[in-house]
Amino acid sequence: MPRANLDKDPHEVAAMFDGVARGYDRANSVMTFGFDRRWRTTTARVLDARPGEKVLDLAAGTGVSTAEYARGGAWCLAADFSLGMLRSGRHRGVPMVAADALHLPFADDSFDAVTVSLGIRNFVDTRAALLEIARVVRPGGRLVVCEVSTPPFAPIRFVYRKFLLRLMTLFGRFSSTNPEAYSYLAESMLAWPDQRSFAETIASAGWESVEWLNLTFGVVAIHRAIKPPLDSKA
Ligand SMILES: C[S@@+](CC[C@H](N)C(=O)[O-])C[C@H]1O[C@@H](n2cnc3c(N)ncnc32)[C@H](O)[C@@H]1O
Repeated sequence: MPRANLDKDPHEVAAMFDGVARGYDRANSVMTFGFDRRWRTTTARVLDARPGEKVLDLAAGTGVSTAEYARGGAWCLAADFSLGMLRSGRHRGVPMVAADALHLPFADDSFDAVTVSLGIRNFVDTRAALLEIARVVRPGGRLVVCEVSTPPFAPIRFVYRKFLLRLMTLFGRFSSTNPEAYSYLAESMLAWPDQRSFAETIASAGWESVEWLNLTFGVVAIHRAIKPPLDSKA
């Protein structure tokens, strides 16, 4: 079974997710002790997708997040470069497209908002992806990213790093079709920057009003930003 490395070769990452697609949603819920559901509903609240809006859910996997965001009446499109993940979520009935986050097949200013949930840390070049996302979002549109992060309180950070990630790898062994893939996921979680560093990367790609919200003691954080409106450039 394939597993990716921290150099995040796109073919390896896509093949790895193809390999875990079948049991992914269940394994994800087990490994996050069911918190994934709360993270999705909070991300949906922050996204605040309204009827009449067009939202791109990037790295959508099986579309479980896309279905959640569409509840408010917005048109939400799931995009992912793992066909296996998309196929596993076909039953959800959300519109889906195969696409690489670094080369999106959409015109400039196509969406009111783009969101990425537990996917951006797998992109081979985070800043290039943030620039590409900015291209397809309309001026004044939003970016909402839910991603693993760094608990600010040292004792929780210690427990999280030393025990929980090992536990997660163990869970992956029992509940997934590809235990090696879950080792990669754990490694990529540890290597991901903390809240402030990621906010700086977002700002460096031209986004404004970057802020974040910690969830579950900062194990996960939701970053939100705005693409500068046209008049702010005048
Ligand atoms: C951990 S899953 C998260 C899925 C879903 N967003 C969720 O919250 O359950 C990460 C997803 O990112 C996708 N992905 C990683 N790199 C990508 C890229 N460059 N372009 C598109 N999708 C990508 C993978 O195929 C995988 O489906």
